[in-house]
Amino acid sequence: MKKIFSHAEQVSEIEQLAAVYNEILAASDEYGKEKKKTRILFVGSEVLPFAATGGLGEVLGSLPKALAAREDLDVRVIMPFYGDISEEYRSSARYITNYNVGLAWRNLYCGLFELKKDGVIYYFIDNEYYFKRDGLYGFYDDGERYAFFCKAVMDSFYFTGFMPDIIHTNDWQTALIPVYNTCKYHYDLKTIFTIHNIEYQGMYDLSIMGDVFDLPPEAGSYVEYRGCINLMKGAIETANVVTTVSPTYAKELFDPMFAHGLEEIIRRNETKMTGILNGVDGYDPMDDPDIDAPFSAEDPSGKALDKQKLQELAGLTVNPKAPVLAIISRLVPHKGMDLITQAMENVLQHSNIQLVVLGKGERRYEDYFNWLQNQYQGRVASMITYNKGLSRKIYAGADLFLMPSASEPCGLSQMIACRYGTVPIVRKTGGLADSITDVTSEEKKGNGFVFENYSHEEMTDTIFRALSLYEETAQWADLVHTVMTEDFSWGHSAGVYAELYERMLS
Ligand code: GLC
Repeated sequence: MKKIFSHAEQVSEIEQLAAVYNEILAASDEYGKEKKKTRILFVGSEVLPFAATGGLGEVLGSLPKALAAREDLDVRVIMPFYGDISEEYRSSARYITNYNVGLAWRNLYCGLFELKKDGVIYYFIDNEYYFKRDGLYGFYDDGERYAFFCKAVMDSFYFTGFMPDIIHTNDWQTALIPVYNTCKYHYDLKTIFTIHNIEYQGMYDLSIMGDVFDLPPEAGSYVEYRGCINLMKGAIETANVVTTVSPTYAKELFDPMFAHGLEEIIRRNETKMTGILNGVDGYDPMDDPDIDAPFSAEDPSGKALDKQKLQELAGLTVNPKAPVLAIISRLVPHKGMDLITQAMENVLQHSNIQLVVLGKGERRYEDYFNWLQNQYQGRVASMITYNKGLSRKIYAGADLFLMPSASEPCGLSQMIACRYGTVPIVRKTGGLADSITDVTSEEKKGNGFVFENYSHEEMTDTIFRALSLYEETAQWADLVHTVMTEDFSWGHSAGVYAELYERMLS
């Protein structure tokens, strides 16, 4: 029987249909938007909060997040599933699948996991033989471990369903990715290689090019350098774009003093090179469970208590008037340790300064700081360890932060010190030159003390210059306010990366 609809029924049906139609339209609009997003895959050997040994992990923990906040980018990150990753993250990562990765004659298990966090999808490459070890690096087979990682990444797109438009690789551990794409995979995508530190290049004996790195002989023209395999050289030659972590370091890399033998390769690839300054994320003294008293640029009064607590904890004489100088660093030559060992006694003898050192590194520097602590009891604290919580207490409690690096691709500690109102004293190199301006500068408002040459006399003069300003209470308070309000967030640099991605695809 034919159903006769009342007028009201017909209207309601039309309304329902319209509603369904609108939903479909909206969904397809969403779909259209999703599709238009540029897909970026970051590849790194360390990423915070999962596993890190230094600045690289810090940057890979914060830059992708800042980029993912943009409408036009779909940003994902892939890293090894290290045994060092905490159980909390290991157990919340979702198993996707496993597949086999061929590396020369090897046929290797590869598990794939994923975890969503702060708008970013993180993928993890699992192979317990390669990655379930104590620590991240320093094994006899690091070359093979990261060759496996790079191949596993190149093979993962089918399983993740994420075919990147751009793969953004970082440092030597990921350098084989652009090489593999050029010599083996030929995917229709672009590659970026970012140099965080040119000192570590991934150098191996030429004889293992096929057997370990699974490269055909013709790849030699990319990866061979001065009789060795040099993975970083391979990436510089094959990536579409090469970046480094500050504009000044990008210029310095043309100079043999800084390029650790790769200057010719950098020159040859000059048109690909660009420098973008890193940012920092977090580090807010208003919201830091590791420090005793919160404080801010508007109300820095809590810093005095943090200083007192630091002096107590470090075994220094508690004295609000004594300026506390902090060094938080790997204790290695390129961080300027020789300048410090040459200058420190002079500084201690001619001022009321107190010194706190946190870090590990070469034995001779560790011994030196322990010796200095013995000589200047109550004035020097030598803490030969890595400890995040302790580092935050030092950033918060100190007045001055010393970073006299011989070279510094970017450096994050000077920016973190600023966030905690601790005024940096730096040498004018790399990212230090791009982030810190001397208080005497006429072009820009100063946010620290800067010296030019790698000389302990210049460094000493600069420390004394800082100490005399420290005596001028009002001016010092003003300087602390300036450093605390300096914008070192990722906002600007993330925009520069986004523009670069756009240019690469256009
Ligand atoms: C390396 C560099 C450091 C930089 C960091 C992040 O650790 O030595 O200067 O800040 O990478 O890019």
